[in-house]
Amino acid sequence: FVIAETFEQARAAAHLVRVDYDRGKGRFDLAAAKDIAVKPPGGFAPPDSKAGDFAAGYDKAPVKIDRTFTTPDHSHAMMEPMATTATWTDDRLTLWTSNQMIAWSKGEVCKTFGLKPEQVRLDSPYVGGGFGAKLFLRADAVGAALGSKAIGGRAVKIAIPRPMIPNNTTHRPATIQRVRIGAGKDGVIAAIGHESWSGDLPGGGPEIAALQTRQLYRGADRMTAHRLAELDLPEGNAMRAPGEAVGLLALEVAMDELAEVTGVDPIELRIRNDVQYDPEKGPGTPFSSRKFVECLRQGADAFGWSRRNPKPGAVRNGRWLIGMGVASAFRGNLAGDSGARVSVDAKGKVTVETDMTDIGTGSYTIIAQTAAEMLGVPLKDVTVKLGDSDFPTSAGSGGQWGANSSTAGVYAACVATRDKLSQNAGFNSKDAVFEGGKITAGGKSVSLANAAGKSGTTVEGKIEFGDLAKKYAQATFGAHFCEVGVDALTGEVRIRRQSGAFAAGRILNPKSARNQVIGGMTMGAGAALMEELVVDPRFGYFVNHDMAEYAVPVHADIQEQEVIFVEELDDKSSPMKAKGVGELGICGAGAAVANAIYNATGIRIRDYPLTIDKIIAGMNKNA
Ligand code: MOS
Repeated sequence: FVIAETFEQARAAAHLVRVDYDRGKGRFDLAAAKDIAVKPPGGFAPPDSKAGDFAAGYDKAPVKIDRTFTTPDHSHAMMEPMATTATWTDDRLTLWTSNQMIAWSKGEVCKTFGLKPEQVRLDSPYVGGGFGAKLFLRADAVGAALGSKAIGGRAVKIAIPRPMIPNNTTHRPATIQRVRIGAGKDGVIAAIGHESWSGDLPGGGPEIAALQTRQLYRGADRMTAHRLAELDLPEGNAMRAPGEAVGLLALEVAMDELAEVTGVDPIELRIRNDVQYDPEKGPGTPFSSRKFVECLRQGADAFGWSRRNPKPGAVRNGRWLIGMGVASAFRGNLAGDSGARVSVDAKGKVTVETDMTDIGTGSYTIIAQTAAEMLGVPLKDVTVKLGDSDFPTSAGSGGQWGANSSTAGVYAACVATRDKLSQNAGFNSKDAVFEGGKITAGGKSVSLANAAGKSGTTVEGKIEFGDLAKKYAQATFGAHFCEVGVDALTGEVRIRRQSGAFAAGRILNPKSARNQVIGGMTMGAGAALMEELVVDPRFGYFVNHDMAEYAVPVHADIQEQEVIFVEELDDKSSPMKAKGVGELGICGAGAAVANAIYNATGIRIRDYPLTIDKIIAGMNKNA
């Protein structure tokens, strides 16, 4: 880092820095390293799982699918880069930064610099996108802090330039995945196996791409395994729906192949393989709620699935080959303990404070809605303050747990606030009704303002989920549909429409939830058709490290997107009866695109992304 008075000075000076280094040998190729991959220590999830006897069940199954898929390294490509302004004065370090997980990152700052919690403050009220790239502390925060210290505490601002993000921060690692399904002639699964290989730097973790295969379909004999190879590439880490986002790109194409071999309609095949409990653990571990079949049925109706011709390459309109595809959506529903502080002032205005972040997801809105409803005040009387490490610790934004967990924490704080205000007003809180800015009980009313008193009332509360995750399997479900046109002459793919039906508990806000799902579907289309960080095998870095050459879908790429939410209240998941939805939309979306391309052309590509060169090669082979 070079620190200067202006950006231009700093940049000019940085170009004068000459770096000399010795070249060593590195390992950059996952396929070549697959054989030295090892079973990693259990981190986020155990590396292996099994039930019954997979080998025996698969061996005797009348129908077998055994396919290997690859997915490349992906870049988060969020709009806002990692950026921090820091001041480090009088042993106090303040970081105004862009971060999804305030409490985690404050802990990392303390550990990195040997500081006590009271010496550090992180403030991240707005985050311009993250997708997992900002779950952890990155070089911008460390550099800005050290920079400020070096110049006596003046503010130092650093934004990591876009071309440095893929190679100097984090990405979703590439995978090789083998899926084996053993089924009856009726398509009912008896044995299912999913193995995934990925790479990372020493000390890193695997891409947990087999996760969904542990819970999505029935079958007595099962196995999954994640293996990790040490690679000398930039750090691999979480990117939107780590695990399922790429795992379903493999599993759901294998399911499409099973449907074709058995002659069972792909919707019917998935319905036949539904299971209402965790299939690895047995009927003693039911799902907290699971409206998977409803998603398939309602989604198929809305999309017009009955108009699909199952014969590949049979529908043509001028030069366009038309195809339809379906894929299941699945994403685990995680929940994290989450706290909040609620203040009611002498005017009856409400302020909510929590270190929850809003990464473009609408946290401000749903938290304000929760507090307004709980305390019976109009939305305009609620102020929400987020992202400050001085506020109570929340679950943060990650793994699609943010909305459900943080609003449940605000709910808990509001329950405590209602108790306190009722007490102040001389009411029993059980009988008190909070409505229209008043507390009413036994025919008597007191305004919120009076109950709060002259100096106002401030109460903290917290939701704790205890052993909920042990009692219930928890996940969100859906069905993705896609219609594509493939140019019969050039191999160009056009997504004509994407559609999907999703069940994720109570939808806290239909507009923000829909935005999240549409964003996920778009990202899934990107993974199917264009997204790929290309490794330079000589030097072990990503060549296409900017938005000009790392292609992501834009509005013109997808003409029509439709989102249906299946009615569901999950009374086990949280007092909000909600689940996560922010990552569900990406999970399976790309497989629906791949399956639509197969239906249009008869070309099955198992190495993502499905670019024109691969489609043309398929056309030449089929010709
Ligand atoms: Mo998500 S990849 O946990 O931000």
